[in-house]
Amino acid sequence: MAGYREQFGPVVRFALPGRPVVLMADPAGIRTALHSGPDTVTKGCPAGARSVYDRLPLRLLGQGMLTSSGELHQRQQRLVAPGLGPHRMAEFAHVFAEEAAAVAAVWDRGGIRDVHHDLAALALAVISRTVFGSRIRPGEVEILDAALAAGNQWSVRPLLPGAGALDLLPLPRTRGWLRAHREIHEVLDLLIARGRRGSGPGSDLLDRILTARDPLTGVPVGPAQARDEAVTLLVAGHETTANALFWCLELLARHPAAQDRVRAEIRRVLGERISPTPADLPGLVHTRAALYEAFRLYPPVWLISRTLVRPCAVAGHRLPAGTVLLLSPWVTHRDPGLWLEPAAFRPERWIGAGRTLADRTASDAGRHERRYFPFAAGPRRCAGQFFAESECLLTLATLLRDRAVSPVDRRPATPVPAFTLRPHAGTRLRVSAVPSLPAGARAVGRPAVEIEGVQP
Ligand code: HEM
Repeated sequence: MAGYREQFGPVVRFALPGRPVVLMADPAGIRTALHSGPDTVTKGCPAGARSVYDRLPLRLLGQGMLTSSGELHQRQQRLVAPGLGPHRMAEFAHVFAEEAAAVAAVWDRGGIRDVHHDLAALALAVISRTVFGSRIRPGEVEILDAALAAGNQWSVRPLLPGAGALDLLPLPRTRGWLRAHREIHEVLDLLIARGRRGSGPGSDLLDRILTARDPLTGVPVGPAQARDEAVTLLVAGHETTANALFWCLELLARHPAAQDRVRAEIRRVLGERISPTPADLPGLVHTRAALYEAFRLYPPVWLISRTLVRPCAVAGHRLPAGTVLLLSPWVTHRDPGLWLEPAAFRPERWIGAGRTLADRTASDAGRHERRYFPFAAGPRRCAGQFFAESECLLTLATLLRDRAVSPVDRRPATPVPAFTLRPHAGTRLRVSAVPSLPAGARAVGRPAVEIEGVQP
């Protein structure tokens, strides 16, 4: 996709059969796509018949909050969003820290680790405790991780010509996905059943999902809809976070000076404590900057689609109703017209006046305002952004306080652009202990004030 942007500019029309499809890499156009109301833009399509691009995630997620639109979506938003907000963080932080400490204990043995595998298990454990209120069991982690990896691949299949017909054939891949789909549902049903009986931090969110009623008819949502909500939160909250953490550690492994700065900061902020708390978050300036830079270079959600419900001028182009707008954080985050040294890992670009410029582009006026959108923006922005950022920061703080990661393979990990941006399977990093320096030797000052790398 970045190639199309390079060759044809920020607005690329694809000559495909069916509805018009446009890759929109222009920040003003991205703003229109993300911030316009439902009278202009939808995630489905006007007549309800979804485009192939909208159908990508439907295979895995059904009618959950990520894929629904209209009234159903508004009801889901009211149901789910409050359960993920900052006021729940004290409860959730405890889970983040405990699960990160479990990985840290394994890493303390040192050696070479499949870090993505470890982080996927961690993120799965976190989401099952915080959203389902129940602990996931070891065998279930393996089943879900393998099944979701298959689902991730499968979700891009509808883009292939003739995919509809291919799905009807009993090909080994099709059978594999159907089996994976069944397994996801079986594990989810177990999690839901256990969560119903439990009283963990996520039980009330699960309870709200399971007991929700249609506000107009008063009819309960039913098990199929409840499962769609559950699988959505599982996928939205686990794949994305695991990938974000992986890419951040992979980048820090290849930039040891940045990793040293992050570790020094974590040690300064935590002092003698080995477990971070939400109160530590504001002090983790370099850590947050490294995470934001990882979101920029390897956005876990690399493709977002919206559909115009009426003819509209987008970035100076008159587009007809029904046009599918493809927005790619991957493409825009690496646009040389919008970023200095776009391919370089430069966490400093996020630091100014000793603090992280938290999504600075959200409040900026002007042409760069939507050059950074790892969590989307506007009415359909990620409901779990605060949750995800807190989970990532507290996990990084736990893991990197007394441990270092370094590359094993000469070539950096390569991303697989499926539903989320996973690395190729089997990516390895070396984990080693970093003993604390004697107290007097820990001379770490405030973060330097540096200039953010935006071209004027
Ligand atoms: C680094 C981690 C994450 C990233 C990068 C991320 C990114 C995104 C993006 C880009 C969207 C919009 C997708 C679209 O419009 O097509 C989204 C939506 C959503 N995310 Fe996240 N997400 C992350 C973590 C989470 C977590 C941890 C949860 C829940 C626990 C979550 C729950 C949701 C939900 C429910 C939506 C749908 C919101 C709506 O349509 O109203 N996400 N996420």
